[in-house]
Parts: sequence; C-alpha cells; structure tokens
Amino acid sequence: GYDITKLLAATGDTTLDVGFANTASCQSAITFIDGDAGILRYRGYPIEQLAENSSFLEVSYLVLFGELPTRDQLDAFSSDIAKHHLLDERMREMFRSLPRKSHPMPVLSAGLNALSTFAYSKWGEGAYDLDRATKVLLGSLPTLAAYGYKNSVGEPFLYPERQLSYIENFLRMSFGLPTHPYPFDDAITRALDVLLILHADHEQNCSTSTVRMVGSSGANIYVSVAAGVSALSGPLHGGANQAVLEMLQGIRAEGGDVTSYVNKVKDRKDTTKLMGFGHRIYKNYDPRAAIVKKHADQILRTHGGNDELLDLALKLEEVALSDSYFQERKLYPNVDFYTGLIYQAMGFPQNMFTVLFALGRLPGWIAHFREQASDPATKINRPRQIYVGETERSYVPMEQRG
Ligand code: ACO
Repeated sequence: GYDITKLLAATGDTTLDVGFANTASCQSAITFIDGDAGILRYRGYPIEQLAENSSFLEVSYLVLFGELPTRDQLDAFSSDIAKHHLLDERMREMFRSLPRKSHPMPVLSAGLNALSTFAYSKWGEGAYDLDRATKVLLGSLPTLAAYGYKNSVGEPFLYPERQLSYIENFLRMSFGLPTHPYPFDDAITRALDVLLILHADHEQNCSTSTVRMVGSSGANIYVSVAAGVSALSGPLHGGANQAVLEMLQGIRAEGGDVTSYVNKVKDRKDTTKLMGFGHRIYKNYDPRAAIVKKHADQILRTHGGNDELLDLALKLEEVALSDSYFQERKLYPNVDFYTGLIYQAMGFPQNMFTVLFALGRLPGWIAHFREQASDPATKINRPRQIYVGETERSYVPMEQRG
C-alpha cells in the first residue's frame, strides 16, 4: 500500500523498515539465533544441551551473568531468590480487588507495577539496586502469577514455602490448598522446568524490545518488565500458545478435518492463520518446538492429557509441512505450537498459558535491561517515521465545514 517513489523522496537519510524486520537496535551478547539453520544458543550454549541437562534457575543465572554458575553460586542465587517469593501482605489485597474474570496477563502486569511502588517506597527515589531488583523480580513473579490464578478460581492464596524448589513452589501455590499436601509429580515438575528454559530468552523479540524501549527512557526495571508482559500478551507473540489450543478445539468441534482448516488458512478470505506456525526469524523448524513436541508426546501419553488434540496437532503439522503454501513461505511450527497441550495436561486453564511464557521469559527481560543499562552506547530509543499525511493547510472555522 506504499507509493515507493513518494516514500524514497520523503525518507532522505531515514530508512523505512516496517516492523523492524532488518534493523538491529543494539549489540547484545546474550542470545544467538540462526533462523535459517534453526539454531538457538544462550551465551553460546545450544538450547538442546541446556534443555537436557540444566534447570531453569541455572539457565537464568547463565542468561543474566554470562557464565554457568558453580554449585555455590547457584545455591546462593537460588536461596536469595527464594527469600523474595513472599510478597508484601498488601499485594494480596490488590489481587482480591481485581475482577475474577480478568485475563491473568493484565493482572500480572498490574502486579509488577504494584511491586514497583513497594520497591520505591522502600529504597527511596534514585536508590536503585539492579542486583536486588533481579532477585525481587525472579522471586516475586511465580507468586504474582499463582495469586492471579488463585483469584480467578476463588481459592485461598498460599504462602510460599522456602524449602521447595522454584518450580515446585509455583505449582503448589497455583494448585495446592491450605488443607491438603500438594502431590508433586516429578514428570510435571521437570516438564515445566524445561519449558521455562526454552522460553528464557529470544533476543530482540517484541516483548524484550519493549522492555528495552521503556528502560531506555530511564524508567525502572519493574515498570519496564510490566510493559514486556503487556507486549507478550498479544496473539502474534506470547498469546499464540492460548490461540493454538483454541484453534485445535475449534477444528475438533467442526469434525476434526485438518485439511479443510489448512485450506481455509490458504484461501486468505479472512484473517484465519495457522496459529503456532511461522516466525519472524526461524525459516526452519524452531529448535524449541522440536524439544516441546517430544515432551508433549511423553506427558500427554503418560498423564492422560488430551491425546485427541495432540493427534490433531500432529496431523495439522504433517498436512501443513507437506503443503506448498507453507513450504514456499518457510512456515514451520514455532515454540507455541505444542506448549499449550502440555500446560493443559498440567491443569492450567488456557488463559494462564501466556503467564507461563512470561515466567520463562523473565530472566531474558532482566538480562536485556541490565545489558542496556551497562552499555555506554545506550541512548533513548526513538525511531523515526516517514510522514505521509496532509501538507500544510489552514484552519477551517466550524460553520464553514461541510
Ligand atoms: N499461517 C498462515 N500464513 C502465515 C502464517 C501463519 N501462521 N504466518 C505467516 N504467514 C504468511 C503471511 O501471510 C505472509 O504471506 P505473504 O507473503 O503471501 O503475504 C508470509 O507467510 C510471511 O509472513 P509475515 O506475516 O510477513 O511474517 P512476520 O515475520 O511478519 O510474522 C508471525 C511472524 C507474527 C509469527 C506470523 O508467522 C504469525 O502470525 N504466526 C501465527 C502466530 C504465532 O504463532 N505467533 C507466535 C510467534 S513465536 C513467539 O512469539 C514465541
């Protein structure tokens, strides 16, 4: 829809790059992606090795500080974070005042903004400690996420328990009841650990760029991360995991014909997309999707999840990958294609799926905020535009307007 001659004349020294598809906004040493080859590495370590051998907190340390921690470093990091699982009591009241039916993503974002008010009242303006904020954020987010969920189902909030692991604490605070011991399941705990590892960072994606954008003005890390949560909530980004499950349920409700759904996507008569397919960077199989697919298969087959929807997803993938529309556009399953199925098998409702993505992405957001804050080349982020509106004209009094 652009007149390229007009635009070239208007741009001068400015480059028009809609959606920033070809523009690097910064230098970063955190995550490497080769989208054509389907490679993802955090601080040089391949995602496959981290998913196989590491834990979410170990990966968080790596993403944040650049090196794998020693045993002592990891123990100290984990126990510092555990100290911040407990929220100020007034935060609980805030959760109770939000509508039960609210989507948990704005609730999470509200929780982070509220956390910022506590951080500032404690430290005073300007007393800003990024190391402390890192631990407060990592410690608080699982509790904020679990309280958002508890509020939506009307169950009592549970206090965190320090002796539990990061993942166990979150699962218990989400699904536990004060009157019952929570029955941990190692396969579920490990699957969630792996899923969070897979989401820990993904360079300059929409939410991370948002965190950097907000932080570039000097705004604090809590409100910057809250903005990242908002950016993540959209269906083209983190919201896709919820949208995939809704799509699969829709296909099942209409008789389970995946070929006719794929044809509808290709017709492009409306905005129907194959959710969980395609990626701005990956023009090959998303390496995270391959790992998630393996876990989805295991968890769903062993934990009585929704096999029928998994079978539909597998068929949908097969039909799409053998279709020239998807082949020509290099559209492959992305990380979100299979994650929703696992989250559902774990007992999470669909509207919580993107919250789980946020839990995983948090170390990446913090790492990018910190990297930007310590980079002497950092400037306030301020893109240009190409003005295509009216040229100068004179004000018309109301009575003379048609
Ligand atoms: N279904 C059908 N067609 C698609 C899809 C899809 N999922 N994704 C891209 N296309 C088509 C586009 O219509 C376009 O076709 P055209 O060139 O004939 O016009 C072509 O493939 C290129 O796609 P773009 O939209 O230009 O790709 P972009 O990089 O802007 O978008 C995005 C990437 C947003 C991920 C897109 O593929 C999409 O909407 N996918 C579905 C939503 C989704 O799964 N999002 C999760 C992303 S991963 C994450 O956030 C973790």
